[in-house]
Amino acid sequence: MKIVSVVGARPQFVKLAPIHKAAVAAGVEHVIVHTGQHYDPMLSDVFFDDLGIAAPDVHLGVGSGSHGVQTGAMLAAMDAVFDEHRPDWVLVYGDTNSTIAAALSAVKLHIPVAHLEAGLRSFNRRMPEEHNRVMTDHAADLLLAPTQVAVDHLANEGLAERTVLVGDVMTDVLFEVRDAIGARPSALIEELGLAPGEYYVATIHRAENTDDPERLAVVAASLAGLDKPVILLAHPRVVAKAAAHGIELTQGALIAHAPLAYHDLIGAVLSSAGVVTDSGGLQKEAFLLRIPCTTVRTETEWVETVEMGWNVLANSAEEIAAAVSRPHPDATDDAPYGDGHAAERVIRVLQDQAQGSR
Ligand code: UD1
Repeated sequence: MKIVSVVGARPQFVKLAPIHKAAVAAGVEHVIVHTGQHYDPMLSDVFFDDLGIAAPDVHLGVGSGSHGVQTGAMLAAMDAVFDEHRPDWVLVYGDTNSTIAAALSAVKLHIPVAHLEAGLRSFNRRMPEEHNRVMTDHAADLLLAPTQVAVDHLANEGLAERTVLVGDVMTDVLFEVRDAIGARPSALIEELGLAPGEYYVATIHRAENTDDPERLAVVAASLAGLDKPVILLAHPRVVAKAAAHGIELTQGALIAHAPLAYHDLIGAVLSSAGVVTDSGGLQKEAFLLRIPCTTVRTETEWVETVEMGWNVLANSAEEIAAAVSRPHPDATDDAPYGDGHAAERVIRVLQDQAQGSR
């Protein structure tokens, strides 16, 4: 069996790592296509190196652009790749422009498409990720859902027959990295001379927080006013927007820092007092590491983290300050994101359904 995985943005490389490992272990031919959506070494190459992923077989080199320009360039480049490889499955990941471009190209070539991390919904139609995931789910032949909540969303949209609950592959890689780190001190702590448990880790990159200068200024000021140092692992997008509008990302408690490689990020979160973020993945990673999270958004796809008290949605300076200083959440053994073996399940489902259905 042959699978073509299409990835392009940082969280997709993390999800690719356990899939690649499981594919190799099962003797499946696995072709990796990198669209080039993320191209900075710290957003791309470092994940392939650190997580032991084979170098991409194909690199489309698309780069940045408006949604239409970026997605269109990927779509135009993808046809020839799929035509050449004619895989049993095209596997697409998450909700980025790379995801929708690959799904659209593959369905039009009548190549079966499987969507990993299917069924997540924010119900916020202003988010580019929401358009991407809804359209990808409806285009795909097989929907690999990470949670029961995602399964239910897909059923509500009439997609139950194509849905399989596999668990969350980010859990697979996170548990492995956490165990590999063990008690090793965080490189970030050593570099910045921080005290364990006495700082927050922050990431802010979503359009709704970065693209309006007034909003970005409020977010930066809110983080700057917190009661412990806040290390902002700054995505190039937030750096560019802040520079363009004269907004300081190092002010008060806020300290801007370059993004971290995956092991270093997990190490930094493990030793922190809490996470403040608008990232999807980091909310869940914080919960899995049992570190309290504050999410700077009006909604989340990972509703389980909020229901269990490990994540709080907060937008104003007051809400953010109250959320980060809230009492420590209650301990829980709940495992809504699976057992750390989702990737093996994904490969098995792809193998089972490759012959049967076509
Ligand atoms: C994309 C995804 C988002 C995901 C995020 C993870 C979409 C619509 N969004 O957002 O869901 O959470 O990746 O990081 O696909 N840039 C660089 N270097 C890079 C990549 C981007 O400088 O390697 C800058 C460019 O100015 C670019 C901007 O960041 O225009 C935005 O990048 P883009 O890939 O369009 O979206 P992300 O914000 O990264």
